[in-house]
Amino acid sequence: MLNEKVANLLNTQVNKELYSAYLYLHFSNFYTEQGLNGFANWYMVQAQEERDHAMLFVKYLQNNDSPVVYEAVEKPAASLSDKMDPLTAGLEHERYVTSLIHTIYEAAYESRDFRTMQFLDWFVKEQGEEETNASDLVKKMELFGGDSKGLYMLDAELGARAYSAPSLTL
Ligand code: FEO
Repeated sequence: MLNEKVANLLNTQVNKELYSAYLYLHFSNFYTEQGLNGFANWYMVQAQEERDHAMLFVKYLQNNDSPVVYEAVEKPAASLSDKMDPLTAGLEHERYVTSLIHTIYEAAYESRDFRTMQFLDWFVKEQGEEETNASDLVKKMELFGGDSKGLYMLDAELGARAYSAPSLTL
């Protein structure tokens, strides 16, 4: 049996990951409206990854006979007007998600729940990558997004991102 606090935090994280997917769909839609289909693709793939994250938390709870409760997913909070807005909001959001994962880890550590700690190890590493990717996007946009040719090339690069299933399986 999972510790109650740990189980609650894991269930809350299902909602947080689904919210992340919803937020990135919002970003993808913003770029589609701007005619930047590469950026739109990048965030569509990101949304798929977030759905996968949510499903990993669901599966982990199910594997541990812990109930899964699907709560309402909030409306995406970010209001977008500039092409840079999703990128900075995305970086800020990933830093927030990292803090959530660390909070669950801390609760698992306090209850000597080594199984959950091992499960979360993948997410700790993943969050490092997520923050790096989000930060790289901001830097690239600052460097190359200022003129139309640079933006075109960057959009083409982001359009090449393809979805792949998570390396963690449960
Ligand atoms: Fe599921 Fe982007 O963290």
